[in-house]
Amino acid sequence: MEDLFLSSNGSQLGSFSPLHGGALNAAAEYFNIPADKWLDISTGINPASWPIPAIPTAVWQRLPEDQRDREDGLEQVALNYYLRDTECADSRIQRSNILASAGSQQAIRLLPNLYNAIFRGSKAKRTAKVWITAGSYAEHGIAWEEQGHRVNKVACEKITQLLTQQPVDVLILLNPDNPSGHRWSAEQLLKWWSILHSRGGWLIVDEAFMDTTPEHSLVGQVEHEGLFVLRSVGKFFGLAGLRLGFVLSAEKTTKQLRKMLGPWAVSHPSQYLGRLALQDKEWINKQRYDLSQQSLRLAALLETYFSCRCEGTDLFQTLHHTKSEYIFNQLAKQAVLVRFLPATNKTPAGLRFGLPKNTEANWQHLESALASLKI
Ligand SMILES: Cc1ncc(COP(=O)(O)O)c(C=O)c1O
Repeated sequence: MEDLFLSSNGSQLGSFSPLHGGALNAAAEYFNIPADKWLDISTGINPASWPIPAIPTAVWQRLPEDQRDREDGLEQVALNYYLRDTECADSRIQRSNILASAGSQQAIRLLPNLYNAIFRGSKAKRTAKVWITAGSYAEHGIAWEEQGHRVNKVACEKITQLLTQQPVDVLILLNPDNPSGHRWSAEQLLKWWSILHSRGGWLIVDEAFMDTTPEHSLVGQVEHEGLFVLRSVGKFFGLAGLRLGFVLSAEKTTKQLRKMLGPWAVSHPSQYLGRLALQDKEWINKQRYDLSQQSLRLAALLETYFSCRCEGTDLFQTLHHTKSEYIFNQLAKQAVLVRFLPATNKTPAGLRFGLPKNTEANWQHLESALASLKI
């Protein structure tokens, strides 16, 4: 697989080259600045996390019971939340289309295994030709490559061309994309799904950053065979440590995934808190508004200092700059940790800025670090 590991072997960041954002302790050690002095905006996780209530002792003591048949069980609650503001929802989508997992990461790892189980007997399909957008979140490519498939990269703007010119067994898109912020309409995605499906292929859409724009989600269309949608509770709810996510797909494949996952994949405390968080409409609505405002503030600040356009989502802003690596280092020396995005052969180097926790002290910290850059 090309491109994915540029940050660990191709960059000039020396030994500080984490594959993902959030490596605060490693940065503290590398730059010799105590961890509590940093403004860590290297992830796209909501810094105002959903407020955790006390967890009853029984939730820690007992295994979670199977709640699949319950109207108020975790998966039904999640389905209600994911379908609520979606523009294209099919009324046939139900609990048999959704599976809770220990973060969407677990589902990312399961999908190549499911593919292997389904296409084991097919010589032509056994080794899948997998395509993912260049520079996107690396874990999808890693998971497919580790299961023996061929992973290739395509630029976000070239998908239609790809599907007419290349054999594609699995297309993986992040909508919106992390880190580029690129978005595709549900209509466009369904057209691509239809092309893939006619050749027995799959479309996987990772919607980890979709919570603030639910109208564009494809969750309402997952009865289409070979369409998989992933959701994460970690980002928007600011609960990455909870390890809770969902995979939605046609009934048959959801059933197979459930069998592969086995019982108790999601801890009882995660199920308990997830059920409450996903039903907290007031908090959800307020966050959608607050995050959009803070993201606009961040974009305006960055555009002022870098004189270039940012792209992103309500949880992060990304920019491309010829001096990205230098800027990353200069910001780090002032205890501002951002995500450095190494160049790939299809995308230039860049920087991703997450939202700071919304205090004036944090915004000041960021602004004074930006103001002191000499670029
Ligand atoms: C696009 C994308 N998808 C999925 C994940 C995995 O998230 P989680 O396993 O916490 O749901 C991440 C984490 O950074 C991500 O950026």
